[in-house]
Amino acid sequence: MAAPMPTAARAYAKINLGLYIGPVRGDGFHELRTVYQTIDVFDVIRVSASSGAGIEIRCQHPQVPRDESNTCWRVAERVMRTLKQRRRVSIQIEKNLPVQGGLGAGSSDAAATMLALERELGLPLAAEDKLSIAAEVGSDVPLFLVGGTVLGTGHGEQVAPLPDVPPLALVIAMPNVGVSTPKAFADWDALRKSERAALTPGSAASRMDAFSQTLYVWLAGSLSGVPVKDRDRGETLLLDLVRAGIENDFERVVFPQCPELREVKCVLEREGAKYASLSGSGSALYGIFESPEMAERAAPALKARGIEAKTARTLSRTEYWRQMFE
Ligand code: C5P
Repeated sequence: MAAPMPTAARAYAKINLGLYIGPVRGDGFHELRTVYQTIDVFDVIRVSASSGAGIEIRCQHPQVPRDESNTCWRVAERVMRTLKQRRRVSIQIEKNLPVQGGLGAGSSDAAATMLALERELGLPLAAEDKLSIAAEVGSDVPLFLVGGTVLGTGHGEQVAPLPDVPPLALVIAMPNVGVSTPKAFADWDALRKSERAALTPGSAASRMDAFSQTLYVWLAGSLSGVPVKDRDRGETLLLDLVRAGIENDFERVVFPQCPELREVKCVLEREGAKYASLSGSGSALYGIFESPEMAERAAPALKARGIEAKTARTLSRTEYWRQMFE
C-alpha cells in the first residue's frame, strides 16, 4: 500500500519594520520592540505521523541540523508530549529561505511544523499551548501564529496583530553570509557599554517609548480613516514609514562588521527603494518600492554584484492563513 501523503504547510518568511533593542532582562534576553511583517517567500514543511516512535528530520540543506537542535524537532517533541501521543514523526524541510538570514526561516519552519502536525494528527492543540510551545522554542516563533503585520514586544515573543499594511512591493537581498543573533545581541551590549550610553532602565525605556510613538505616527497614516484609493494607501504608508524614521538597531553592530551589507542597503536606496533596512540581525536586507515594476527593475542591480535578490510583497494576515496549506 502506498504511504499516505504527508501534510504540507508553507513556512512564510518575515521582515522587521523597525527593531529597537532595550535593556537586558533578568532572564538574559533583551527587551525589544519591533513590527514583524510576513512576506510571500517560503520554505515548505511536510509532516507525516506513522506507527512507531521518534522524530526524524529530512533536509537537503547542509547547514540545517537534523538532530534535536532543529527548531522543527523541538516543536514536534513538545507537541507530542503535550498531546500525549506516541507516533513516528517525519518532518521534511524544503529549504528556499536563507539559514541565519534574519528572515525568521528557522522559526517559521517550527511554527509550520506545529500547525501541520496538529492537522496530521487530527488533534487540535489549545491556543495557549501553541503559544507557549512557540515562545519556548524561539523568540521569533509566536509571530508566525499570527501572521500579517504583527507587533512584537517582550523579547520578541509577545505578539499582537496590527492592522495589515496594504500590499507593498519589495526586493529581498540575501547576501551569502550568516549572522549569529546571540552574537549580534552581545555586540550591541558591547557597543552600548563602549559608548558609555546611560544603561539605566530609564533611558532604555525612553527608547522603547520613542518606538511606540514612531509606530503610532506611522500607523496613523493607515488608521486615519481618510478615504484613499488602495494603491494610494500603500504609497501614503510608505511615506509615513520614511517620515517616521523607523530604524533597526542591529544595523549599528552588523554593518561595521560586514560593510558589504551596508553597501547592499545603499544599492537598494540608489535603485529607488523608499525605505531599505536590515531584517532582524541580518544578513538579509529589504527595500520597499513604490510598485512591483520598480522592484523588478532594481533586483538585477544586486544580482550584477553577485548578491542573490528576489522580488516579493507583503502578505496580509488573511492571505497568510489562506495560502499556508494550499
Ligand atoms: O529566542 P531565540 O532562540 O531566537 O534567541 C536566541 C538567543 O538570542 C538567545 O539565547 C539570546 O542570547 C539572544 N536574544 C536576546 N534577546 C532577545 C532575543 C534573543 O538576547 N530579545
